[in-house]
Amino acid sequence: MKYKRILLKLSGEALMGDKQFGIDNKRLMQYAQDIKEIVDLKVEVGIVIGGGNIFRGVQAEKGGMDRTQGDYMGMLATMINSMALQSALETIGLYTRLQSAIDMKQIAEPYIKRKAVRHLEKGRVVIFGSGTGNPFFTTDSAASLRAVEIDCDVILKGTRVDGVYDSDPEKNPSAQKYDTLSFDKAYENKLKIMDMTAFTLCKENNIPVVVFDMNIPGNLKKVILGNKVGTLVTV
Ligand code: GTP
Repeated sequence: MKYKRILLKLSGEALMGDKQFGIDNKRLMQYAQDIKEIVDLKVEVGIVIGGGNIFRGVQAEKGGMDRTQGDYMGMLATMINSMALQSALETIGLYTRLQSAIDMKQIAEPYIKRKAVRHLEKGRVVIFGSGTGNPFFTTDSAASLRAVEIDCDVILKGTRVDGVYDSDPEKNPSAQKYDTLSFDKAYENKLKIMDMTAFTLCKENNIPVVVFDMNIPGNLKKVILGNKVGTLVTV
């Protein structure tokens, strides 16, 4: 097994499946099954999930809304996704804990690093909701921050493309995929992997990032086993 403790970053938008909005139950259950496969291998799993399927703060700002207000609404959206994922994981027999960066004690534990680590050691999947709890940060930044704090071996960024390309594969059919890549090269070539805050946190703390297609069942396990899936970004 290549990784012992991981931070899985899931996209909120991917949770929509073929829908225009909200949560597609089939996609949610696929993710849950994929996560179970790696928990069964005794991998310790922390998860951060976005909220873009429900609300996007940046877009709300374009429509005239105050950015801070929009970002907090986005954080609430991540909590809805986190709760859905928690339920999905529990229906297939996993033990989970949900921690929130914003106090919502009726529905989630507060984020406490030491408790999170203890849960992981006991084999519980820990979902970190509400992003970083601060406006102007993305859930990629939340994933990087939690990964650094709880000492993860790697961030696995589940997306709908199968890695990092030298140009947009949806626009350029001859785009080339990287198997591995350094943070410096990604920066020099302006390759978008994460926003700069998240990117810098990973680079400075030497946390590798694997970008892979989470929508293909079984891919997550392949990454954990060290198979050639997605793109590995390292220092
Ligand atoms: P350990 O006993 O330390 O292994 O962890 P534990 O999570 O089992 O113990 P704890 O007594 O802290 O939690 C029992 C249950 O209550 C778990 O499902 C927690 O997620 C939940 N829980 C703990 N604190 C809070 C809280 O502040 N709010 C909410 N909503 N649930 C909480």
